[in-house]
Amino acid sequence: MRRYVIAGNWKMNKTPAAAKALIEEMKPLVAGKDNCDVVLCVPAIDIPAAIEATAGSNIKIGAENVHFKASGAYTGEISAEMLTEAGVEYVVIGHSERRQYFAETDQTVNLRTLAALNAGLKAIVCVGETLEQRELGYTETLLKFQTKMALTNVTAEQMKNVIIAYEPVWAIGTGVTATADQADEGNGYVRAAVAEMFGAEIAEATVVQYGGSMNEKNAAELLSKPNVDGGLIGGASLVAAKFAAIVDAAQ
Ligand code: 13P
Repeated sequence: MRRYVIAGNWKMNKTPAAAKALIEEMKPLVAGKDNCDVVLCVPAIDIPAAIEATAGSNIKIGAENVHFKASGAYTGEISAEMLTEAGVEYVVIGHSERRQYFAETDQTVNLRTLAALNAGLKAIVCVGETLEQRELGYTETLLKFQTKMALTNVTAEQMKNVIIAYEPVWAIGTGVTATADQADEGNGYVRAAVAEMFGAEIAEATVVQYGGSMNEKNAAELLSKPNVDGGLIGGASLVAAKFAAIVDAAQ
């Protein structure tokens, strides 16, 4: 009933020209891989080049952030309408790097999520515990809290446009992947939080991704787990063959 969503998060990598070149390399490798949705979330400046390069392909484009106001004096920010007019369909919200380096809070994650959904974007909402929180035994509490805060005032109808990415902070960019069982467990806590808010049926229909050092070698095992409905992939999404191999693992 759930469809895999394999999404790259390029973070602050690739100029517009390099984005175009990487997409041209990826397109033939992922063409016809219809058992999953294929998404690339790219730096804002790369969006026009990425939209142009992916036209007519099965790759969808996402942004890496969105502001919660429609317009106004918010220097450096980008509105949901700017994204949709540019052809963007997805947006990453609340990535741990934004929480860590840019003072993103559960409240701003919630406001950005609502703005994205109200504009018709698909929101990829990120949650995840730090190593310290895990070692203190707070993983379940933290994941449920972050999930519920992010989804406050989201309607049941809007939940079909919500994807939640469980990204343990200790596994991001470290080469340390959560074991498939840890990923399944974390994703299960997220799904349980969705069930507590919206009921079992919506929870069963919600796509929950895993992210954190997912690569061409570990993707098949991670994706084989019942609660892992896809991946949010950083480093490996910057290499066409690696990203394509993860898409293959979802077939
Ligand atoms: P890595 O795949 O590089 O660990 O990054 C994961 C991530 O943060 C995706 O959003």
